[in-house]
Amino acid sequence: THEKFVQCLFNYSHNTNTSISNIVYTQTNSSYSSILNASIQNLRFTTNTTEKPLVIVTPLEVSHIQATIICSQRHGMQIRTRSGGHDYEGLSYISEVPFVVIDLVNFIEIQVDAENSTAWVQSGATIGQLYYSISEKSKTLGFPAGVCPTVGIGGHFSGGGYGFLMRKYGLAADNVIDVQMVDVKGRFLDRKSMGEDLFWAIRGGGGASFGVIVAWKIKLVQVPSTVTVFNVPRTLEQNATNIIHKWQRVASKLDERLTIRINIGKGSSAQTGNQTVQASFESMFAGDLDELIPLMEKNFPELGLVREDCTEMSWIESIMYMAGFSGQPTQVLRNRTQPNLVFSKNKSDYVKVPIPDAALEGLWPMFFEDGIESPVIQFTPYGGRMDEISESEIPFPYRSGNIFHIQHQVYWEEEGDEATERHINWMRRVYSYMEPYVSKSPRAAYLNYRDLDIGVNNNGYTSYEQASVWGLKYFNNNFRRLAEVKTKVDPRNFFRNEQSIPSLVSHG
Ligand code: FDA
Repeated sequence: THEKFVQCLFNYSHNTNTSISNIVYTQTNSSYSSILNASIQNLRFTTNTTEKPLVIVTPLEVSHIQATIICSQRHGMQIRTRSGGHDYEGLSYISEVPFVVIDLVNFIEIQVDAENSTAWVQSGATIGQLYYSISEKSKTLGFPAGVCPTVGIGGHFSGGGYGFLMRKYGLAADNVIDVQMVDVKGRFLDRKSMGEDLFWAIRGGGGASFGVIVAWKIKLVQVPSTVTVFNVPRTLEQNATNIIHKWQRVASKLDERLTIRINIGKGSSAQTGNQTVQASFESMFAGDLDELIPLMEKNFPELGLVREDCTEMSWIESIMYMAGFSGQPTQVLRNRTQPNLVFSKNKSDYVKVPIPDAALEGLWPMFFEDGIESPVIQFTPYGGRMDEISESEIPFPYRSGNIFHIQHQVYWEEEGDEATERHINWMRRVYSYMEPYVSKSPRAAYLNYRDLDIGVNNNGYTSYEQASVWGLKYFNNNFRRLAEVKTKVDPRNFFRNEQSIPSLVSHG
């Protein structure tokens, strides 16, 4: 069927501006593998047994996307759309059924309108490219999206998207004001022509269930010309557990310009040199040092922050700092590829009441289990602007009442199925250990930290009830409305995957 599909693409697009033949890659094409691998971010999905697309299309214009959608339906192919390829389960480029990848690597245009504090950004651009383009136009405009510069706009914005400005300005998706997308009928829509329901759904409900999102219009936000950053490590011997105890009670109530997240991993004790747990308090304050120090002394003296721990810089430099690029030219933010890829598995949780110290003390030994390379548990505070936005404003529902968010991560370099199984099993045990201390009914999860363990559709085929197993965890009370929008715009469930929103009229 894929030959017929490719023929259909040629027929369909023979009178478009640019020929489609240069942007269609079948498995025999010599560039196929390099294009497929270019944005895979997790070595788990680069093995010989990973299911691969029959065809990759790298559209240059909207008509190429339209042709791919129409021809895929005619010739029984599924579509996976890839922007930055960061999906934690590889859903943008893996499928068990015959499929084509629409890779938006050429849709990377960014137009910043500093005068009106807005920008149009195409889905295939990365957040690093967006930050770079904003900083080229203004030193006092920024955008509240994620931390890792190679993350793609398409997946990130359609699943939420947060970083160090979240407590002040909410999620990336909260700051989207218009979009352009192609729907299942091949129609090119904007906010006005798609209507408010679909516009609501694709800001946090995941784009892949609804069509291919081409570009986003965003509202840029004010950042001061000077911000202050620090990254302060504390080991168990330096009272890390007590400091985390206090952090859990204050971090979501601090001045909304201040975000202090914690990365908890393995470290070594300064006193004994022995392995220990280390909590690194990593922070960006959208203000200067003279304001930050008294704020910390008053609200969080347990951390013992001193002026020497902190550095003042511009907002774009803080982006570089958090990405580990300090001292390099800002142009590195435009690089799309991540060096040093490893294997990884991630999960997420939300916390409404502080985790007891005894529970944390029970968690620490798990970091040192045999054969577990690099576990990192990350706590990110909520509060501030997140408390003010209603749970149904966009599909992302976890607002007031959530004091912080956990990302459970484990990274490893050892190859082979046994190592993968060992690390994934470890992650599942940590997740089950944490169950009593995190949100319940549903046990909340963040769509952008995709986790197929929480439930899947069978090859994309599912009922509303079955899909509710995972859907309520990501979307809670917004899941029903997402299914209603899906039913309206794609009733036959063409755009489907292991965790796509189900149509209420069809299981297929
Ligand atoms: P990818 O291309 O893999 O797409 C993800 C999903 O969106 C897939 O289902 C895909 O089909 C769909 N999709 C993509 N483009 C689409 C389009 N144009 N139209 C329709 N559907 C589309 N998150 C966060 O909030 N803050 C952070 O700081 C980070 N940091 C981070 C670091 C690293 C190293 C990784 C691997 C991930 C993160 N994330 C994150 C998570 C990230 O936000 C999440 O993986 C995003 O979905 C990634 O978007 P991409 O476009 O890169 O992914």
